[in-house]
Amino acid sequence: STDPLVIFTPSGKRGRFAVGTPVLTAARQLGVDLDSVCGGRGICSKCQITPSYGEFSKHGLTVAPDALSEWNSVEQRYDDIRGLKQGRRLGCQATVQKDVVIDVPAESQVHKQVVRKRAEARDIVMNTSTRLYYVEVAEPDMHDPSGDLERLVTALRRDWDLPALEADLGVLKTLQPALRKGEWKVTVAVHLGDAVFSPRIIDIWPGFYDGTIYGLAIDLGSTTIAAHLCDLRSGEVTASSGIMNPQIRFGEDLMSRVSYGMMNPTGSDEMTAAVRDGMNALFAQITEEAGIDASQIVDAVFVCNPVMHHLFLGIDAYELGQAPFALATSESLSLRATELDLNLHPAARVYILPCIAGHVGADAAAVALSEAPDKSEDLMLVVDVGTNAEIILGNKDKVLACSSPTGPAFEGAQISSGQRAAPGAIEHVQIDPATKLPRFQVIGSDLWSDEDGFEAAIAQTGITGICGSGIIEVIAEMRMAGIVDGPGLIGSAEQTGSPNCFQDGRTNSYLLYDGTAQDGPKITVTNTDIRQIQMAKAALYSGARLLMDKFGVDKVDRIVLAGAFGAHISPKHAMVLGMIPDAPLDKVTSAGNAAGTGARIALLNTDARKQIETLVHKIHKIETAIEPRFQEHFVNASAMPNAVDPFPILNS
Ligand code: FES
Repeated sequence: STDPLVIFTPSGKRGRFAVGTPVLTAARQLGVDLDSVCGGRGICSKCQITPSYGEFSKHGLTVAPDALSEWNSVEQRYDDIRGLKQGRRLGCQATVQKDVVIDVPAESQVHKQVVRKRAEARDIVMNTSTRLYYVEVAEPDMHDPSGDLERLVTALRRDWDLPALEADLGVLKTLQPALRKGEWKVTVAVHLGDAVFSPRIIDIWPGFYDGTIYGLAIDLGSTTIAAHLCDLRSGEVTASSGIMNPQIRFGEDLMSRVSYGMMNPTGSDEMTAAVRDGMNALFAQITEEAGIDASQIVDAVFVCNPVMHHLFLGIDAYELGQAPFALATSESLSLRATELDLNLHPAARVYILPCIAGHVGADAAAVALSEAPDKSEDLMLVVDVGTNAEIILGNKDKVLACSSPTGPAFEGAQISSGQRAAPGAIEHVQIDPATKLPRFQVIGSDLWSDEDGFEAAIAQTGITGICGSGIIEVIAEMRMAGIVDGPGLIGSAEQTGSPNCFQDGRTNSYLLYDGTAQDGPKITVTNTDIRQIQMAKAALYSGARLLMDKFGVDKVDRIVLAGAFGAHISPKHAMVLGMIPDAPLDKVTSAGNAAGTGARIALLNTDARKQIETLVHKIHKIETAIEPRFQEHFVNASAMPNAVDPFPILNS
């Protein structure tokens, strides 16, 4: 035919269309991802496109500047009021006149990609569960009686190809005034449905609603609760906020919370109420920061460990405190926010990722979603270190997971000078191999302790202790300087040649900081501290090693350290201690808060929810407690780096 040829970039989709076809119509027919909320009425501006001229002549196209129609009055009005960027047209108003190449900018795509900052991370493709639609509804007619909702649903089916929709009572109550106030034009928010909920209209605005709707991605941890508020149209993170988990007053660690529930008849309910109250306090905080109302939040995705999962849902966590660690359910959950007493939009939905096993929670599933070992050619070891290490090993053929009880030593607990990562904590340490004397950095300053200005820089905070990553560095440095031996004994000053070694009861300790500069506490590393770290790191390593046995390999291609701790830990020092298997250092990377990222992916893309549900079913769960090999690895792994496993790359 001689109809003009239309080529869309970046998709490359092409077709011939009759002169006068609106660009939006052409895009839809070709399946080009071009957004529209108002259905082509020149109101929403989501359909913006850029005609590109000239460059494509080498493909045999003759592109003339008049390939698209002149501005029409609708487009002119839009431009007068709101302003269109240079070179942009409204895709619903501009019509095809001659052969043309049309670029769809990222912000005009429904399934746009939200760029993740980390170089190796895949972008998130937008595909939200709740979306906005603008429609014009037929007026009621005495001769053809029908309800306002029925006419609204008919219009939505006609314009948007939406299935039969129901409406919440809240929507029915506001439906009639909204239709009349908007003169039979309204914008609706539609939850497109999932395995549990049928598609429903959850909100309605008269006329064109120019605002947006939001979702929350929440990482519910035992210690902290962190939330990202995301714009469900752009995918951008609008605000991020966190609070301490108010359940801490019932017990610092998970097992003490489980026992609180066992000892007190109302304990489990108290903890459920506490975490839900905390959640609402967090929502108040984050909406205030973003300057929005909580009723604009229509979707929330949660990731958490199994005990937090149960306590948040109001399920007694008793069974999780004892073998065989049975979950009430490991499947994902779709709920209404009101069922969990959450103060969001009255029809807001909640999605909770599936748990992998009784010890490996929805947080680990979220890490798997974010890091995608199941899509990797390389064999990836993903380690999320907290008081429990959650360990995933896999590639595109097979994925295995386990958890290992590392205890709280990596968070600075049970360490004589240990503390949480906070200003004043020593986080980096170097020990001079010749003098065997230490220098260090403290959180809150970039200066090393022997540099000019250090004391002034830390005058505010003082030097208060060593955080988890600091304790790993100092022990690894002590090992490299020959101050501590492979089995984990600190030598005397005579044996090591370090003036900082001193006898401390029946063993030796190493003085890291004498406290004089700030009149603060003396900070030492005792042999008991080393013992604690040896136990923790042996648990972590043995878990990883066990998965490698099960996979039938003795090395991995890549190691990803997830979690806040993983973000600060030095790969080299971790390997010197034998926390993680031997691997090229440049193949050991930090994924930051991968659980939070996984939550954000599941919030923005409903297909990702299905993906993780499928993957979790396929993951081989390994229970370390019943594996004799785990004990064997554990014994060998308490040495630094290891009593039997060679670390050829580290040693080269
Ligand atoms: Fe809404 Fe074009 S589709 S302005």
